[in-house]
Amino acid sequence: MRKKIIAGNWKMNKTVPEAVQLAREVVEATKNAACEVVLCPGYVCLVSVASAIQGSHVKLGAQDVHWEEKGAFTGKVSCAMLKSAGVEYVIIGHSEQRTYFHECNETVNRKVKAALRAGLIPIICVGETLQEREAGRTESVCEDHVRGAYQGLSRQDALRTVIAYEPVWAIGTGKVATPEQAQEVHAFIRRLLGSMYDSEVSAGIQIQYGGSMKADNAGELLGQKDIDGGLIGGASLQAQDFKGIVLSC
Ligand code: 13P
Repeated sequence: MRKKIIAGNWKMNKTVPEAVQLAREVVEATKNAACEVVLCPGYVCLVSVASAIQGSHVKLGAQDVHWEEKGAFTGKVSCAMLKSAGVEYVIIGHSEQRTYFHECNETVNRKVKAALRAGLIPIICVGETLQEREAGRTESVCEDHVRGAYQGLSRQDALRTVIAYEPVWAIGTGKVATPEQAQEVHAFIRRLLGSMYDSEVSAGIQIQYGGSMKADNAGELLGQKDIDGGLIGGASLQAQDFKGIVLSC
C-alpha cells in the first residue's frame, strides 16, 4: 500500500517571515493528516521553515538542486547544503525549470543521481504541454521524461524516488485534468516503470498529480487507483486551502 504524499510547492512566493507563519499554520491545520505532508519553500526560507516544523509531522522539501557536490557554481545550491538545512525531499525537473531555465532530461538525471547519493528523495516532475497533448504525444513525452530521469538508476534507487505527473496545461491555469485523464497517464507511467524495472518497482513508486489541484477536486483525483498524492502550487499558499487537500487523502 503506497502512502499518499501531499507536497506544497510554494514556488517564488513568501518572504522568510511569511513562510514561517504559513508553515506554523500548516502544522496546526494538518495535525490529523493520514498522508505525508511536505512543504517546499524557496531556498532562503528553508532553515527558518525547518525550525518552524521541527518535531512535527510536516517534512521539508526544496524546489531544485545542483548536481555538483561543491565548487565554483555561483548561485547554485548543493544536496549537502539542503541536507544540512533539514531537507528530505527535492523537486527535480519541474516544467517551469524545463521551460524557463534550460532543464533537460540529462540535467534532471544528474540531479536525481546527486539527490539519491545524498539521501534526499527526488520528486521527479514529468508532463506534456497542451500542444503535445493535442498532437497525441502525451504518452511519448511522459515516457521520454521518465526514461531520461531514470537513466542508469538501479531498482533500489528507483524505489527511493517519487514522480509527479504535472500536465503543463493544467499548471496555474485552473484547467485541472479530469480524474480519468490523470488516472490514464498515471497508469501508463506505472506500466512503463514495470517494463523498465519490475512489478515491485512499478507498484512501489508513488506518483503524485499536479496542476490546479484544489480542495474541491482533490477527493476525486486522489480516489484514483494510481494517484498517490499531489504536488500543489497555488492552493498551497494558504493553510486552509492546503488543509482541504491534505484532508482529502
Ligand atoms: P498549481 O497547483 O498552481 O497549478 O501548480 C502546480 C505545480 O506546478 C506544482 O508543482
